[in-house]
Amino acid sequence: MPSPIVLGAQQTGAGRPLVLVHGFPFDAEQWSEQLTTLAERRRVIAVDLRGRGRSTHAPNDDWTLDTHADDVARTLDDLGLARADVVGLSMGGYVAFALLRRHPGKVASLTLIDSKASADTAEARHGRDENARIVREHGTRALVPIMIPKLVAPSSPAWVSQKLAVMIERTPPATCIRDLMAMRDRPDSDPTSVRVPTLVLHGALDALMPVAAAHAMAAAIPGARFVEVPGSGHIACLENAPVVNQALASFLRELDGTAREESP
Ligand code: MLT
Repeated sequence: MPSPIVLGAQQTGAGRPLVLVHGFPFDAEQWSEQLTTLAERRRVIAVDLRGRGRSTHAPNDDWTLDTHADDVARTLDDLGLARADVVGLSMGGYVAFALLRRHPGKVASLTLIDSKASADTAEARHGRDENARIVREHGTRALVPIMIPKLVAPSSPAWVSQKLAVMIERTPPATCIRDLMAMRDRPDSDPTSVRVPTLVLHGALDALMPVAAAHAMAAAIPGARFVEVPGSGHIACLENAPVVNQALASFLRELDGTAREESP
């Protein structure tokens, strides 16, 4: 059993809470272009998942994506927050689905960015094992030339790749390997079972997860809205922050309107 932990986080703003869950193999810094804008209408909590950034873990623990979801739920409890709007990018989206499964009351709304509901194919599982071997033998740094060309669109600014490389290099090898195994072993999630307001944002040029599949996932989630992010690959929050921030702001504004209508 993984040891229970509360996550470290960057926090800004005030009001209705919103949790940002980063992708693999990154940390809360992935949300640098969202923190200020989102803080205009939300208390923003950008967590570092266990084993990186401000979040520790017991050195011998293995973990699954359910462990990450339990950590997020425990962190909300620790902050005295009953529920939050949840935004997950890629692996962060897998964690958000696990949160919905395990702690449905904690999720007020869901935003999935460059993510998917389906489990790994056999080929993808093999790729996880291969990347884990590379990290074990050569360190996390070895993932930079393998991953970056697949993550960003060819036209994305150089600073995005540089920022991603810095985050990859500082993620401890043991953390990378555990995340790879956690993603490899994750189950399918069922988009038709989502019962909270949902926004799906997806880079038009995402080479890892085709935009058409994200569109189909959004169509399967009751009432979900879909926004294609032009010019962006797999890291839309950095590659085209203005479009992501505008779509999020409009979604959150609508949620605020609904909450006002519902209150007596
Ligand atoms: C991520 O950005 O979190 C990863 O690309 C997800 C994955 O490898 O499935």
